[in-house]
Amino acid sequence: MSNTIIVGLQWGDEGKGKIVDYLTESSDIVARAQGGSNAGHTVINDGVKYVLHLVPSGILWPTKKCVIGNGVVIDPLGLLEEIAKIRSQGVTITPDNLFISEHAHLTLPYHRKLDLAREKNRGANAIGTTGRGIGPTYADKIERQGLRVTDLRNAAKLAQEIEWRAALHNMELEAAGYDRINVAEVVVEIEAAAVELRPYIVNTVVYLNEAIAAGKKVLFEGAQGSYLDIDHGTYPFVTSSNTTAGGACTGSGVSPRKIDRVVGVAKAYTTRVGAGPFITESEEMSDMLHNMGREFGATTGRARRCGWLDAVLLHYAVMINGCDHLAITNLDGLDGLATIKICTAYRLDGKVQNHPPATIPELERCEPIYEEHEGWLQDISGMTKYADLPPKAKAYLSRLSELAGAPVSLLGVGPARDQTLVV
Ligand code: GDP
Ligand code: IMO
Ligand code: MG
Repeated sequence: MSNTIIVGLQWGDEGKGKIVDYLTESSDIVARAQGGSNAGHTVINDGVKYVLHLVPSGILWPTKKCVIGNGVVIDPLGLLEEIAKIRSQGVTITPDNLFISEHAHLTLPYHRKLDLAREKNRGANAIGTTGRGIGPTYADKIERQGLRVTDLRNAAKLAQEIEWRAALHNMELEAAGYDRINVAEVVVEIEAAAVELRPYIVNTVVYLNEAIAAGKKVLFEGAQGSYLDIDHGTYPFVTSSNTTAGGACTGSGVSPRKIDRVVGVAKAYTTRVGAGPFITESEEMSDMLHNMGREFGATTGRARRCGWLDAVLLHYAVMINGCDHLAITNLDGLDGLATIKICTAYRLDGKVQNHPPATIPELERCEPIYEEHEGWLQDISGMTKYADLPPKAKAYLSRLSELAGAPVSLLGVGPARDQTLVV
């Protein structure tokens, strides 16, 4: 019995895809429960690189089932493109291994356009979204004017359902100085996509709960990270869903009582893509990692901002998510450093602060309090056993675990499937 939630503990891109891929072997079903195609999860297997946006990473295992749950926002055109791309890499995707929730909300072309228009309107306060229409789709859902996957089933009413929504959003686009969406074109595109997607649509709540009752193990693949959570993140520089563990339950219709463990994924340092406060940001770390060809976004290709491990954030995220274990990735990214810093607390207006404050001005005034660790100055990417790691690398991990308040159970020393070590 083991239904596991995998959740990011930082600002996304922690290596969740790789950890989900690793844990899929001992699961039956992999389910996404929130976010949309803003996610970019990289899995490298036998030298082939796969980037998953909406399709759960479990799809790479031929015998496993994958679910896109009710809490996800689905861009039908983007999803079909993604399916075609993954298929072209030799992966089988059929209505027998991919199940799409009838309750999930749809991202339509006007949402993408609204995302860009609203970002432009924010000017210097822009969030740096992925431009995938995520915010406007969730806004429509909460405003109770969204279109859902189940609406794709009703061919007779689909055009009408799209038309009044598009007309509404066209008013905003026009007022903001953008071209109106060509509604007729959108209708034709979505009607065609509906025909292709219909065979995949099911009640995934029933599917998941019946599977669990039959003893199947579900892995919930989190997207984004805890500090992009709409409630707990660095608001307003966040995404529009609950990225923390609770989101896995509301976004799948599986009760919290059916969850057995929560595994938090974090990098051995910190990265963030997009705007917003980042207390341990470091030019030295950004330059080093970018020069190694690392830390460029999987969805937008943007260079990620990089910095030292922030244990204040880690500890708080472990608390919110109730992490039983940690999976620490990218430890090999620190191989070349003689000195490695960990932020253990903040100083805010002369006072020591152990939790992230709520407002952006306060976050911006926080100064990191660092402790320094000696680096191991050794390539660890070829190591296959935790026991073989240099003692200084073990000491760093052990301090990280102590500060975070949870044991480390998995460790990444490289991007490939076999570069995951059991601790
Ligand atoms: P996700 O969104 O959380 O799935 O993470 P991304 O795939 O966006 O970003 C993580 C990046 O780190 C990807 O390029 C992965 O291939 C890579 N990665 C994951 N784990 C490791 C690791 O332990 N070492 C190295 N070198 N790369 C890793
Ligand atoms: P994965 O699942 C990293 C960031 C964007 C922006 C903010 C809001 O790969 O970890 P949005 O498009 O969601 O409205 O953008 O959130 N963001 C991510 N950053 N990894 C992600 O997903 C992200 N998804 C969104 O850069 O700052
Ligand atoms: Mg990513």
